[in-house]
Amino acid sequence: MAKPNRPHELRFPYDTRLALAAWRALYFRPGRFAAQPQQPAEWNRGAYLVQALGHCGACHAERNALGATRDAAGLAGGLIPLQNWYAPALGGERAELVTPLLQAGVAGSAVLLGPMAEVVLHSTQHLSSADLLAMARYLQSLQRPAMPAAAEPSLAPPRLERGAKVYEAQCTRCHGADGRGVARAYVPLAGNRAVLQEPPANLVQVVLGGAFAPSTAGNPQPFGMPPFAVELGDEDIAAVLSYIRNAWGHRAAAVQPLDVQRWRSSVRP
Ligand code: HEC
Ligand code: HEC
Repeated sequence: MAKPNRPHELRFPYDTRLALAAWRALYFRPGRFAAQPQQPAEWNRGAYLVQALGHCGACHAERNALGATRDAAGLAGGLIPLQNWYAPALGGERAELVTPLLQAGVAGSAVLLGPMAEVVLHSTQHLSSADLLAMARYLQSLQRPAMPAAAEPSLAPPRLERGAKVYEAQCTRCHGADGRGVARAYVPLAGNRAVLQEPPANLVQVVLGGAFAPSTAGNPQPFGMPPFAVELGDEDIAAVLSYIRNAWGHRAAAVQPLDVQRWRSSVRP
């Protein structure tokens, strides 16, 4: 069906061709994918899909102040501007999860949410198993930086108590007092790598905006988590997240109310 072009919504100076030309001169380097002959064909196919067609570096690499990715092929993780979701470093030991995660959006106790749920919904769930496996093989070969060592919780006991109370009132009905969740419905939070992630931006986004796994053939009717942006203030969210990062044997840096405020401001109503 024919549709008229929409007027673009960029504001000055981003709507000028000169700005675009300057940006391209600074950051755009045209290139062709060059296969590495010493690597197997499957690895090269995976590298091509991840680096070129998949645009995985658009989120999984850090950006500079002008929005250009630094080392997009490195996939060392980055905070997505404006959305304030953190796309973690890819590769390393989690590679065996990659194929089922990109296909179904859930695998074991891991789930993909936020902007990555959209990637699965609109893109990766439709790829062939052979292509997904090739991407997994390629990602497996990347060095993933180690998770930062467990930090001092720096959590005053009253904060921890407040967090435990919020957790009991708002979260136990789905994730359980023991943090073990409900199989095939609610992810476990205990032992969940996403809960210990640095920076904890995604946890803040999940509690503020809710959590919705993508609907896929492998997980056609995911359960949802309601948003708490209205019910819980910055202090309560910081307290409950600090609590889940330090309950059930976890040990990770506390989440500060200021972090919640900073990341909250990006959530569109
Ligand atoms: C629009 C931004 C965006 C794009 C594009 C994107 N990702 Fe992601 N990705 C994310 C975010 C954000 C997360 C964290 C999601 C979460 O914690 O639920 C993530 C998480 C992941 C994870 C889980 C990592 C872990 O350790 O938990 C994998 C694997 C992954 N992405 C692979 C890919 C691949 C492969 C591509 C390219 C086909 C890709 N992503 C493209 C934003 C993106
Ligand atoms: C109505 C049930 C429900 C309630 C209440 C609920 N959650 Fe969730 N939570 C979910 C669902 C569903 C998901 C998405 C993953 C899935 O499909 O299991 C999720 C995901 C999460 C995640 C992301 C885990 C990951 O692996 O990325 C965190 C963190 C989380 N919840 C914390 C909380 C906290 C803290 C509270 C209380 C403030 C809470 N949840 C309340 C159902 C719930």
